[in-house]
Amino acid sequence: MKPREIIPDVFFVGAPDFDRKLFDSLIPLPHGTSYNAYLVRGRDKTALIDAVEPTKLHVLEAYLKDVPKVDYLISDHTEQDHSGGIPWVLGRYPGIQVLSSELAKPMLVDHLGLDGNVIRAVADGERLDLGGKTLRFISTPWVHWPETMSTYLEEDKILFSCDWFGSHIAQTELFVDGVEEIMASAKRYYAEIMMPFRKIIQKDLDKIKDLEIRLIAPSHGPIYRDPQSVIRAYRDWSDDKPHNTVVIPWVSMHGSTAIMVERLIAGLVERGVTVHPFDMASADIGRLAMTLVDAATLVIAAPTVHVGPHPMVFNAVILANALRPKVRFAAIVGSYGWAGKMVDIIQAAIPNLKVEMLPSVIAKGLPKPADLEAIDALAAAIASKHQELGLT
Ligand code: FEO
Repeated sequence: MKPREIIPDVFFVGAPDFDRKLFDSLIPLPHGTSYNAYLVRGRDKTALIDAVEPTKLHVLEAYLKDVPKVDYLISDHTEQDHSGGIPWVLGRYPGIQVLSSELAKPMLVDHLGLDGNVIRAVADGERLDLGGKTLRFISTPWVHWPETMSTYLEEDKILFSCDWFGSHIAQTELFVDGVEEIMASAKRYYAEIMMPFRKIIQKDLDKIKDLEIRLIAPSHGPIYRDPQSVIRAYRDWSDDKPHNTVVIPWVSMHGSTAIMVERLIAGLVERGVTVHPFDMASADIGRLAMTLVDAATLVIAAPTVHVGPHPMVFNAVILANALRPKVRFAAIVGSYGWAGKMVDIIQAAIPNLKVEMLPSVIAKGLPKPADLEAIDALAAAIASKHQELGLT
């Protein structure tokens, strides 16, 4: 199989994975994913950027079958879906040098069992001349591991961005087709992987703002011919201003919480607020994460199970806390049978969310008229807070 030419002397040698259903045994992959790797051929030397997930190593092997010499393996990121094939590459090309960031070097030893002597750490901004093709290494930490770097091909103005700007899409086409579709996937990917680091991402974006970029070639999903589209989207997703939206992860066992959620949705919609409710008994947590990217308010709605919140909703609470979205307000809604500590337990589980807590509404059994009035008041309070922030 011949390496696929992107432009002269720059090739795609990665692998789509149409059948993968979950990443990290957690994140649903409705469109599969891909493990991209790239070959850059200079007059004198050849470099391979990344080395695919081990389950798809046979694809990389087939692409490299008739490539007799590779001098450098650029390891932009240690996670195994990029680096898993490195041991095979080292065997295929004796004498090849692995180049990584300083932080990545010990991580490659720890995670892959590599001999540290084959790895040379490169500095931020260091250049590698392949002969008419110059690679510049740009430290871009926390997208999404601390050691991650991007690689910029100066002559052709291609940014090999590794995970950031990526999307979990398996397709045979090399380039982005429909911008809207790719933006939805890129947003889902950002939400699941990048959102916890949005402050640092803003700095990384500043770092590349003066780079002339013709193509962004990420490590997952297709290549962007219009790189500014995804850079602009990252600016919006990572900035501090939420949208006029409320996310409600909820579950109901016997209908009480469902009645309250329906009432809250109606009250919010009436006041011009967009609502994204997710029944956690069946929700796609990737979509939940996506809506958290822009949400101004998170309302957690659950019945009480053995004193605490229903575990399916508590799962969403833990996820939201881990993803650190830019939400500004939160509230807890739900019901209990005879006793409960749901509010205390949920509040203690969201220390990462820098939110103002709005009054909780917890009904004993079926919600009574007073509970529903409290829900209406909560809807009014949320709409008013959004207005104060200038979101409406
Ligand atoms: Fe695509 Fe962080 O691995």
